[in-house]
Amino acid sequence: MGRLPEAVTGVRLNTTVNGESRHVDGVWEGESLLYVLRERMGLPGSKNACEQGECGSCTVYLDGLPVCACLVAAGQAEGRDIRTVEGLADGAALDPVQQAFVETGAVQCGFCTPGLVVAAHDLLDRVEQPTDAETREALAGNLCRCTGYEQILAAVRLAAQRKAAG
Ligand code: FES
Ligand code: FES
Repeated sequence: MGRLPEAVTGVRLNTTVNGESRHVDGVWEGESLLYVLRERMGLPGSKNACEQGECGSCTVYLDGLPVCACLVAAGQAEGRDIRTVEGLADGAALDPVQQAFVETGAVQCGFCTPGLVVAAHDLLDRVEQPTDAETREALAGNLCRCTGYEQILAAVRLAAQRKAAG
């Protein structure tokens, strides 16, 4: 039997994910990076709530910049560096942003949380002590249906204080 065409068999995707080289075979280049992370790489932290770039629950770092993984085609991720919410913790120790979300009650159903944590992590990398207005603007692309956002603002304030205190 002859070889199946590439469109049927898929291609090999080569990436770095959370500091490790990851190679996945059989990928259709048009499937989303979110699908690859969740279904092919066993990284279900990034959530799939809308698949349309509307909710931010799938936010990951791509070459150091936060993006909606549902809007990135797998082919676009070839050779790129990806960091997911799973890659923020240092072993068993949560990142200060993750810890602050837990402590302030900013996690309720949790569906928005991974994306918000990555977006807040990025904000605090850029701005040491953001005002609430700056935080609201930075997190405007991340929707939460549960918290009313007050606990999320409190989490960002707490994480900023702790990071400043070293
Ligand atoms: S699942 Fe990607 S923005 Fe909603
Ligand atoms: S905690 Fe439920 S959507 Fe944000």
